Amino acid sequence: MTYIHFFCVLTVFVNAVFSANFGTKIKTNERPIIGVLTQEFYDPQPGRNSFIAASYVKFLESAGARVVPVMINKSEEEYTQLFKSINGVLFPGGGVSIESSSYSRAAAAFYRLALEANSKGDYFPVWGTCLGFEQLTLLTSGQLLLSHTNTRNVTLPLNFTDEIRDSRLFKDFPDDLMKSLRSESLTENSHQWSLTTENFTKTETLKKFYRVLSTNTDGQNEFVSTMEAYDFPIYATQWHPEKNAFEWTRPHIAHTPSAVKTTFYTAQFFVNEARKSFHSFGSTEEEQKALIYNYNPIYTGTKSPFEQIYFFD
Ligand SMILES: *[C@@H]1O[C@H](CO)[C@@H](O)[C@H](O)[C@H]1NC(C)=O
Ligand SMILES: *[C@@H]1O[C@H](CO)[C@@H](O)[C@H](O)[C@H]1NC(C)=O
Ligand SMILES: *[C@@H]1O[C@H](CO)[C@@H](O)[C@H](O)[C@H]1NC(C)=O
Ligand SMILES: *[C@@H]1O[C@H](CO)[C@@H](O)[C@H](O)[C@H]1NC(C)=O
Repeated sequence: MTYIHFFCVLTVFVNAVFSANFGTKIKTNERPIIGVLTQEFYDPQPGRNSFIAASYVKFLESAGARVVPVMINKSEEEYTQLFKSINGVLFPGGGVSIESSSYSRAAAAFYRLALEANSKGDYFPVWGTCLGFEQLTLLTSGQLLLSHTNTRNVTLPLNFTDEIRDSRLFKDFPDDLMKSLRSESLTENSHQWSLTTENFTKTETLKKFYRVLSTNTDGQNEFVSTMEAYDFPIYATQWHPEKNAFEWTRPHIAHTPSAVKTTFYTAQFFVNEARKSFHSFGSTEEEQKALIYNYNPIYTGTKSPFEQIYFFD
């Protein structure tokens, strides 16, 4: 009895502390700006040395964020300065090396800065999609753990794990959308490398760091398709949330209402994470100069998998 009583009192106390801290309106940043990594263009030309597929930009803009391109080949000092100015970073998909590209160098700089900042209570979310997911597996483990899978051109339903109960990422997805994600092929996969569940499970550094939220299989190997860090606002999908609403060149991409909702709920989740960051540019002029509005996307859908691409020098 005494113990039960003690715990009740403790619960009341904990609740009181929580309402004091969290029950009141939490201050959020309603003007979030998110950095999106550029990467080496596969067919470089003058003025087209690096690029971002416009769908990643639209994805973030659709949920109320503005975007700043993170240029490759900048110094550590420049990345640190930019890190202090933006509210989150997205490592997009693509085809460059996660070991030796300029994209991987920029990703490593932002990953390190994000770990440092978050450890000190300076909230800074990181999102990895496809190649970005693969990049995060290397950054967290320091090892190349990817296996070949036959997943270059498929849409799949998500096999949610039991850990979904504690997921931050999917917490606010409506029940009907979770049901659709489970049963319909809504997630687009364009990768030939994957982190198998087996390799994940064998690798302590990853197992301690990430909660696996969903898996998939190519018929041979089961791989991790969605994960979030336990103690950091770091999220990764091997699938492409941005494509359902914004890419049309591949006939297998799903565009049903549930598929498009998947794009927006995922974007909303990540942009809400960025709203918890209070980094800002030193001045309005500096902010204006950095925004992606200084560039125009080009229609490339006739000859690339992307409808529109932003090119950079
Ligand atoms: C980045 O640096 C690499 C290696 O020095 C170089 O090959 C590449 O052209 C540079 N790209 C851009 C966009 O500056
Ligand atoms: C990961 O899987 C690949 C085969 O798919 C294997 O070659 C590699 O050794 C595995 N890594 C670990 C750490 O088990
Ligand atoms: C989900 O997991 C089951 C059991 O491992 C497997 O048979 C099925 O193919 C998986 N589904 C997808 C879409 O990966
Ligand atoms: C994927 O499918 C599209 C058509 O749906 C095709 O044009 C493309 O070559 C395929 N890519 C791969 C890697 O199989």
